[in-house]
Amino acid sequence: LMVFSGQSNCALAQEICNVLGTTLGQSETQKFTNDNLVVRYKQSLREADVFIVQSFSSPVSDSIMELLLMIDAAKSASAARVTAVIPYYSYARSDKKDEPRISIAGRLVADLIQAAGADRVLTMTLHSPQVHGFFKIPVDHLSAEVVIAEHLQQTVDGFSDGVVLAPDAGDIKRASALARRLDSGLAFIDKRRTSDTTVNARALIGDVQGRKVFIVDDEISTAGSLVEAVNLAKANGADSVHVAVTHGVYTGPAVERIHGLDVVEVCSTNTVDVPYSKIERSGGKLKTL
Ligand code: R5P
Repeated sequence: LMVFSGQSNCALAQEICNVLGTTLGQSETQKFTNDNLVVRYKQSLREADVFIVQSFSSPVSDSIMELLLMIDAAKSASAARVTAVIPYYSYARSDKKDEPRISIAGRLVADLIQAAGADRVLTMTLHSPQVHGFFKIPVDHLSAEVVIAEHLQQTVDGFSDGVVLAPDAGDIKRASALARRLDSGLAFIDKRRTSDTTVNARALIGDVQGRKVFIVDDEISTAGSLVEAVNLAKANGADSVHVAVTHGVYTGPAVERIHGLDVVEVCSTNTVDVPYSKIERSGGKLKTL
């Protein structure tokens, strides 16, 4: 088995290698002055079982292109099997034609990954789980539910009085599974997105009065959803608010918005390489924003 990393999250690829007791494979990616990328493996891949770790984080288009080139180069170098390990698949938010004449990038990117020659995909907490179905090759769709549940159990005082709050109706299924695991209550928010950076939370459905609220989501991007969810939880009498998401992407105004929030902590897993806010299961370490 050989593990290689694109440039988006080398820290995670290294951690994976540490857990497996293997050495991260040597490869390099070069960007030319005309923005073209070239990748090169610095060791033989002949007949190897190759895993390429690459999150689709900023710059997203370069991350995707680099992964495609790495898959293609690995196949050309006679790897026996190539698995694309995509901890964060950002285009999972583009999964259907919900407006006239729009693109469906979640499917197109899946097509490209297969056309490049991937034999298998490993990914985590797809915003729209149905993106899984865009692939004809096997996909292992992992969940951070266990890690997030353990983190909340270990760090929240008075944990048993908790309510899991889904920041929008689309997250209810995931939030409900976590609530069952934690034996907590469940609430959700009726949210409407008004633009890329703003949302409007209209009502909180459920009882959070005097309770510890655990907001869980697939990702924080601009933190617009989070701001609305925290403010509504507080306005409905929540005792305290803890936030744990799978993908801490933190784009645009996110960090500034989060700093202004009345929350105990905001944390995420390390699917995206950001300098804060990670739940790291191996060492049980936590950095909060
Ligand atoms: C929304 O449907 C998702 O579950 C997330 O809540 C959303 O993608 C987060 O985006 P933002 O942080 O920009 O509100």
